[in-house]
Amino acid sequence: MNSATAWSKKVPFAVDVAGVIEIMGTSLYSQPMAAVRELIQNAHDAIQRRRDVDLTFSGRIDIALDKDAGTLTFHDDGVGLDAQEAEKYLGTLGVGMTGGIRREEGESTGTGQSLIGMFGVGLFSAFMLAERVRVETRRFDGAQGVCWDAGAGSDITLSSCERERAGTSVTLFLRPAFKELAGEPESIEKAVKYYADHLPIPIHLGGGSARINMVHSNWLSPSVDTDVLSQEIENDFHERPLEIIPVRSSSGAKVSGVLYVTPERTPAFSGAPLVTVTVRRMVISRRIDGLMPVWAPFLRGVLELPLCGPTSSREDLVRNAAFDAAQKVVEEEVFKFLEGLAETDIGRLTRMVVWHRYTLAGASLTNPRLRRLLSKCYPFDTSHGPMPFVKVQELSPADALVESDFDAVIWFNSDRRQEQASAKLFAGRTTPCVQATRSFEEPMLLMMTAEAGPQVQARAVNLNSKGFLESILGIREVESVPESWAEFLKLENVSIHAASYDAGVPAVAFLDERRDLKQTVEELFKTGQVPMGFQKMMEEHLDSRKIGNNQVLLNRKHKLVARALGRKTSHPLASVLRLLVYQSLEAAGATLPQQAQRVRAADLEWVSDALSGGE
Ligand SMILES: Nc1ncnc2c1ncn2[C@@H]1O[C@H](COP(=O)(O)OP(=O)(O)OP(=O)(O)O)[C@@H](O)[C@H]1O
Ligand SMILES: [Mg+2]
Repeated sequence: MNSATAWSKKVPFAVDVAGVIEIMGTSLYSQPMAAVRELIQNAHDAIQRRRDVDLTFSGRIDIALDKDAGTLTFHDDGVGLDAQEAEKYLGTLGVGMTGGIRREEGESTGTGQSLIGMFGVGLFSAFMLAERVRVETRRFDGAQGVCWDAGAGSDITLSSCERERAGTSVTLFLRPAFKELAGEPESIEKAVKYYADHLPIPIHLGGGSARINMVHSNWLSPSVDTDVLSQEIENDFHERPLEIIPVRSSSGAKVSGVLYVTPERTPAFSGAPLVTVTVRRMVISRRIDGLMPVWAPFLRGVLELPLCGPTSSREDLVRNAAFDAAQKVVEEEVFKFLEGLAETDIGRLTRMVVWHRYTLAGASLTNPRLRRLLSKCYPFDTSHGPMPFVKVQELSPADALVESDFDAVIWFNSDRRQEQASAKLFAGRTTPCVQATRSFEEPMLLMMTAEAGPQVQARAVNLNSKGFLESILGIREVESVPESWAEFLKLENVSIHAASYDAGVPAVAFLDERRDLKQTVEELFKTGQVPMGFQKMMEEHLDSRKIGNNQVLLNRKHKLVARALGRKTSHPLASVLRLLVYQSLEAAGATLPQQAQRVRAADLEWVSDALSGGE
């Protein structure tokens, strides 16, 4: 038995300040240069707040380097702080005036709208680079300056100081490991340009008269001149955009910026920056997961998401309702742009679609809206030249003599090896044969067909496809070849038939290798995203017979075939016929099995012996 008496007491959370500052300084941010960003943000907020009380005030930020002293100083001429404010806001982790103002004034109106700070921790990022931080400041309406001095883990010293100008100077006494930064204006400039290029407040370096951040960023300005934007994109991203998509949504999610379509061929694999996301014009990240539509990895650009919340490290966005809303707006804007282009300039849209065809075709399988768009502009190769689905449908009215259930029958071939042969069969007709031979094209075509309505059907160019013999080959009846011939011509996975038709060839072969399609389709079914009618059509298409059986159709109208079939299989003509069957399969792209190759060698020998009369 346990004889100890039970007890309980309340204990406060304890915070080891030195430990927290250490964490802030070493582990919150992945880049030490994030300190530059945080200090610029604070200066920006101070200037914004001064602008709110003095509408004529413009403000500027100056960064000074002192190589000998090993310091970096961030000057601003913003509101400044008095002694009480300095004590309260600078030295309290988690408390800042900015967050308070934003909460009071609301996120989307008044001063709150333009401020960046929110967590009350940013200043401590300075300890990543510095062992000591000194803030000298004077309120714009105050009489005396105040100095706030802190070393990591030590107490803060607050004192009065001489300061003529209103505003704030934050000096970092650099850690030994970062001392050299004080002599490297290029590194500082690079960090400023990375994080603050779109910030409207001018930032100067080392007393220089020209600002180092962009004077005016058209990316985010409301008036859009695509030529200017194109030029800016080329300067910034070093590539020429295929299309420029201005994004301006003031309703709800408030997303603005510019996206463009990259000319890069395999955009999903490139390590290049993708979409730069800014919140209140400070760069958060160039790769925010889940923001851009998955079907458009070819988009690049800059987006300002003023209502999204950065994580406290400011390297990512919090996934919240604002994020979801922004993501929806972005997708909607991109769709609207492309759908608009489908109306106004289909040629331009088609060129872009062709450039990124694999990405788009693949993505369309799970995205009905994208599929609808592509049905108008994705050019399938056909026996009659490239054309989009809607055009194919127009040119494929059903053969009224044979079809009673369908208004349109779309013929397609999905085997690259059969492209030529199938194109030949369609050459003299107005109906095209779609060559759905590239990745994703076959399921995409079938889904588009299913969505075109129950009176439209897609059929493979194949002996088993309903209506193919009648409508395309003009054959009324197909027979199986006699038993002895079936045995003689026997080949693994090949069925042999005979019919009379006008093609002028002894035999036509059709390959049927749909294992790939079957697999893709089964995966699609699992996603549950297939259109109505698609499943039924696929079942018919895939299960109508054993997958993988190739077919040969002997032409009884051909003299040689007619003669051969009229004799015994021991006659040399039978061997000639067998050679022709093999040849038709090879012409269609099949690879003959070893066994058949041996048979062929024997046949050739036999024919040659027979011809030479046993000399
Ligand atoms: N340059 C400055 N001028 C005037 N006040 C400043 C300046 N820098 C900091 N402050 C004051 O110190 C507070 C704390 O700054 P800190 O960067 O730690 O937090 P914040 O900016 O409020 O929020 P965040 O953590 O999101 O940056 C600010 O809210 C502001 O009141
Ligand atoms: Mg801050």
